[in-house]
Amino acid sequence: MNIAVVGLGFVGLSLSSVLASKGYTVIGIDTDKKKCIEISKGCVPIYEPDLEKTLKIGLKKSLKISNDFSTIKNSDMIFVTVGTPQKINGEIELSMIKKAVKSIGQVIRKTKKNPIIFIKSTVIPGTIKKIILPILEKESGKKAEKDFGVISNPEFLQESNAIRDTKCPHAIILGGNDSKYMKKAKKFFSKMHPNVSIIITKYQTAEMIKYANNSFLATKISFINQLSNICQNIPDVDVDDVASAIGLDPRIGKLFLSAGPGYGGSCLPKDMSALINFGSSVGANTTFLKAVKKTNDEQINNIISLMEKKLGSISNKKITILGTAFKPNTNDIRDSKSIELIKKLLKNKVKISVYDPKALENTKMVFGNKIIYSKSLISALDKSYGVIIMTQWKQFESINNKLLQCMKNKLIIDSRRMLADKELNGEYYAIGIGEK
Ligand code: UGA
Repeated sequence: MNIAVVGLGFVGLSLSSVLASKGYTVIGIDTDKKKCIEISKGCVPIYEPDLEKTLKIGLKKSLKISNDFSTIKNSDMIFVTVGTPQKINGEIELSMIKKAVKSIGQVIRKTKKNPIIFIKSTVIPGTIKKIILPILEKESGKKAEKDFGVISNPEFLQESNAIRDTKCPHAIILGGNDSKYMKKAKKFFSKMHPNVSIIITKYQTAEMIKYANNSFLATKISFINQLSNICQNIPDVDVDDVASAIGLDPRIGKLFLSAGPGYGGSCLPKDMSALINFGSSVGANTTFLKAVKKTNDEQINNIISLMEKKLGSISNKKITILGTAFKPNTNDIRDSKSIELIKKLLKNKVKISVYDPKALENTKMVFGNKIIYSKSLISALDKSYGVIIMTQWKQFESINNKLLQCMKNKLIIDSRRMLADKELNGEYYAIGIGEK
């Protein structure tokens, strides 16, 4: 079985590495030549636990990396994993996926194979039928369902758990027509993941499942964040205790109920905006989804208000931000709430010092010399008027009174409640914990 994976971001690179490590012959394609050279050497351009190890196993077996689309001509299966970011107006940006399927169509024109093209990239319902299929048929001069198959196969992996989730997904969704290609796809996935449910449905339903999944996760987070703002104003209430208790109800479930500064990353925010836009375009009322998004957009302001309430004027004061990655165990800062916070504080002329165990290089690309980058917790905290913990890096649990001594004013705002059980000599406020 020859497999091609088009687009080597964290989804595509994880998928090609895992498939190759399992013994499939895999070609990973990316248009970025420099990136291809690095990956071919076993160097991973992103920080993702276990990815480098799995990539190296894959490369030793059968994984080849290329920026030349013609190398996929012998593929039986082609996975499309290119990004679908958002435009400034919130709509989905399809230029990358259009380009990728155009190139795939041109390869299909010349091949004797009857490949299946799996669309893993997140696309709004109707995109495969209305945009992707016509491009493939035009560029290949061949017919879908007869000469090649196209299946929607949304991805649910989480950054920082990419390899685990690629190896053990919670479900496989296959959207498309009932055809020989669908039967072949089902057989392939049943062999890859024998104990995982496979849902076979129509294109649009599969595309919608992905948005339903991400918007429900966003909903849980905004729900608990709104609740945390209420809890914070009631003495002796801890939102984590509330969340663990309600999480025991199987109708609610315990995951994704950790309050914080709001959801960030390259997926939930852009998928919420795309779904709201799409909903309106089909004439549906999206009041609820808009409220989830608004709750998320406002969460960061609560942190700033608390800081201003405690410090008075914050302008020209040094404030320490701990964590710029959108979550721990990644160096990804895309749509990170911490980056948004820094931008807002800079507008208030705050002097910012940041520390993140993995994401400082990426942070530098955004802020240049506008902020101070610290190589350690202690230098980040030195002479600071306040510290805000934004990302739940394990390392921040080590913060103690000795470390805080170097601060000018010991104001600690903990958006993740990491230090809630410590007796700290300072003013400590945690999102979701009522003042005593
Ligand atoms: C998300 C989904 O979880 C994946 O299932 C999906 O495949 C992926 O988007 C995608 O569409 O590609 P990811 O962006 O990696 O995955 O990040 P999450 O783990 O979902 O976290 C998103 C944000 O929510 C982070 O900022 C995180 O800190 C925040 N979060 C998460 C909370 O504030 N509380 C929680 O309880 C959980």
